[in-house]
Amino acid sequence: MRILTGIQPSGKLHIGNYFSVMRKMIEYQEKFDAFTFIANLHALTTFSSKEEQYQNTLDAVCDYLALGVDPEKNTFWLQSDVPIVTELSWYLSMSISVSSLSLAHSYKDKVAKGVSPNAGLYYYPILMAADILAFNTNKVPVGKDQKQHLEYTRDMAVRFNATYGETFIVPEPEIEENSAIIPGIDGQKMSKSYGNTITIFDDEKKIKKAVMSIVTDSAEIDVPKDPDSSVLFAIYSLFLGKEEVQKLKDRFATPGLRYGDVKKELFSAIMDYFSPYRTKRAELAQNKDYIKEVLRKGADKASQAASIQMEKVRRNMGIR
Ligand code: TRP
Repeated sequence: MRILTGIQPSGKLHIGNYFSVMRKMIEYQEKFDAFTFIANLHALTTFSSKEEQYQNTLDAVCDYLALGVDPEKNTFWLQSDVPIVTELSWYLSMSISVSSLSLAHSYKDKVAKGVSPNAGLYYYPILMAADILAFNTNKVPVGKDQKQHLEYTRDMAVRFNATYGETFIVPEPEIEENSAIIPGIDGQKMSKSYGNTITIFDDEKKIKKAVMSIVTDSAEIDVPKDPDSSVLFAIYSLFLGKEEVQKLKDRFATPGLRYGDVKKELFSAIMDYFSPYRTKRAELAQNKDYIKEVLRKGADKASQAASIQMEKVRRNMGIR
């Protein structure tokens, strides 16, 4: 069973990223044929500068390795290192209509915001389909926001198979429903674009500041608090086992709880949880040769897997 996902390198990694798809891919590498790549070609659709593009990509690689992506078990590469996928995206573009692409939320939202979109943004779902179909993928774990992109991918696979003969596995999405409910410090979904994140590898002061500014209601100390509507409770629960969650619930229900105290505890819990990863991350950042080697090997493995599939695609299209 091959499981594949791509992650856009978009700056500082936060706990919302970690507790959704990322942790899953790290668990899956133990059981499945895991493929994970950094989608730096997709990141070009929101390009700012080459320095930032490069740095974000490198940061994403270090983040993932530090948090436990094991390149021996998980084929791990940079999207741009396997250019054969862009060739496939061209072939796949024959299996989707312009009118259907125009309905993509990701594209429509940008247009609605007044952004004049480049063609790359429009083409985004096709490249993403190629990312998936080039590797004979069975399952794709993604966040809720990627649901439509997976539908496009499936549509293209089905249409291609109908036109050119059986070529692609039609992949199953595995939608991470949970990721939508990891709230940021203001209570909206945690997202870099809302500026409400708790980052993982920043310096302690920044992380503490974010934790201390988690929104709470104005309930007095001597009244019971409602855990179910509490952002603080939701975030803290991520770091707790079942029994500990229940204990925290009871503490909320008992008058006398101070939110400030709970925030301080949460901050310690976060630092404890990520401390080994932070150490590893700092070591990795010093070890450029190792990173280069990991990416080279990953690109080799990924290229090999894609080449087999591409032979079939070209043959079925009459290219060879
Ligand atoms: N579009 C995805 C995101 O922004 C990233 C991505 C690119 C991806 N290619 C993919 C995810 C292929 C899964 C499979 O999150």
